[in-house]
Amino acid sequence: MDIEAKISELERRNEEAALGGGQKRIDSQHAKGKLTARERIEYLLDEGSFEEIDKFVVHRCQDFGMEKNKIPGDGVVTGYGTINGRSVFIFSQDFTVFGGSLSGPFGEKVCKIMDLALKNGAPVIGLNDSGGARIQEGVVSLGSYGEIFKRNVWSSGVVPQISVIMGPCAGGAVYSPAITDFTVMVKKTSNMFVTGPQVIKTVTSEEVTAEALGGAMAHNTKSGVAHFAEDSDHAALDRVKEILAFMPQSYREMPPAIPCTDDPNRTDIKLNSVVPTNPRIPYDIRDIIESVLDHNEFMEIQRHYAQNMVIGFGRLNGMPVGIVANQPKYMAGCLNIDASMKCARFVRTCDAFNIPLVTFVDVPGFLPGVGQEHGGIIKHGAKIIYAYCEATVPKITVVTRKAYGGAYDVMSSKHHGGDINYAYPTAEIAVMGPEGAVNIIFRKELAEADDPEARRKELVEDYRNNFASPFKAAELGYIDQIIFPENTRPRLIKALNMLKNKRENIPARRHGNCPL
Ligand code: HXC
Repeated sequence: MDIEAKISELERRNEEAALGGGQKRIDSQHAKGKLTARERIEYLLDEGSFEEIDKFVVHRCQDFGMEKNKIPGDGVVTGYGTINGRSVFIFSQDFTVFGGSLSGPFGEKVCKIMDLALKNGAPVIGLNDSGGARIQEGVVSLGSYGEIFKRNVWSSGVVPQISVIMGPCAGGAVYSPAITDFTVMVKKTSNMFVTGPQVIKTVTSEEVTAEALGGAMAHNTKSGVAHFAEDSDHAALDRVKEILAFMPQSYREMPPAIPCTDDPNRTDIKLNSVVPTNPRIPYDIRDIIESVLDHNEFMEIQRHYAQNMVIGFGRLNGMPVGIVANQPKYMAGCLNIDASMKCARFVRTCDAFNIPLVTFVDVPGFLPGVGQEHGGIIKHGAKIIYAYCEATVPKITVVTRKAYGGAYDVMSSKHHGGDINYAYPTAEIAVMGPEGAVNIIFRKELAEADDPEARRKELVEDYRNNFASPFKAAELGYIDQIIFPENTRPRLIKALNMLKNKRENIPARRHGNCPL
């Protein structure tokens, strides 16, 4: 074969690989409103930056007539490139090739890029669109999944891992995204479940659609498995870019600060009246969060799940920060099982990747109830303690209103390593709320009073003024400073600057034993 023939052979093979499972299946992918594996990569990565590897890998299966049916690439497009000039590694499952199902060589391709990402310290992005284990491959496929899971675990906290679910993701396949840092789902076209509707019907007689069982909204509202639900493939890929903009390339780096065009000394007079004086009246904690962040931009994470807890990313003077906040607008901002897991996981994500934490506290306590107790609020609530105490990134806390009981301790208090703890003048920091406290400590006096209701009112008011305030905590140094709400942004930025060289170590060990 002369050189020209060799070159045209390569061209022919490249064209064949680019077609994946063929034009008919590509058309069917488009008809479902989905992009192909290659179109997704092209959209996500900087133009012309994608370098594919293992394009000609094929399966080695000799059963079920598979030896006569080989498609170059074998159902996954893998490689590396850049997003906004920063290096990333990517695998994109190709549903047009054997339904994107995972064979041995498919798994080897994914592992190869995960290994490269780990060695080079750059994020891994997985675009999932697959029928799961390739049935014809049998246990070889299961082995490959296992190899991927192990790498997900070993990469955890080393490089950011982001999963996008853009089609089916079923069976054990769901456990790879579950280990990664963020899972983005596309509404209507994606679903995730360990056992699908058919199996569920056989085993438990429950009837459920794939969408209701494991669609984007099911996992964004009920299970908390996913972090984002987006309207289209394009929107999901845009979200990946947005997440990466807050993340370092690996734990060895700081998150990317950008030049800030929003005034770091900007005050906001409206903040002085955001917190209602009546402690029973709710308000939206997002009004405070958005006011203080650069350009009022807040990327909320898990927006639909455990809405009594708000988490997300923003910037302060150009520096990425992780925001954690109780939300008085939902369930009065109390802590329950779901909110505890949401908060703890996010705190650990930020700590793993050097992202400072800013915590806004307005929490009446843990949610009472048999369901909560039997559901394990003890161990789930303990996760918040664990996550904050373990976190050595800068931690700044602002108590806006209630910080009662155990909930005071767990929400980034001084005792759990808060570096700077601010309170608004409206803060109420005490063992419990005035009504409960008065009923207990003045029970006898109230029983004997001529007008118990009038006396109760008086005692509650007295308690509120003297104990349910930030001053007792400030006298003890548990609160570093009581601040005017309008100054929150400049105060946070000053504290963050002061903490930028923070170094702290917790005792050495093999690894901690976080309650799970
Ligand atoms: C081999 C598969 C496949 C699989 C789909 N295909 N899933 N081939 N192994 N797991 C093939 C189909 O034969 C078909 O080939 C093409 O992919 C598209 O599939 P369709 O069924 O036509 O598409 P659609 O109607 O959109 O349905 C998609 C689907 C369905 C919902 C994913 O295919 C499905 O239920 N597949 C099986 C899912 C499953 O049970 N997987 C195993 C899970 S257990 P042609 O040639 O006709 O285009 C698992 C264990 C992992 O994954 C364990 C890890 C520890």
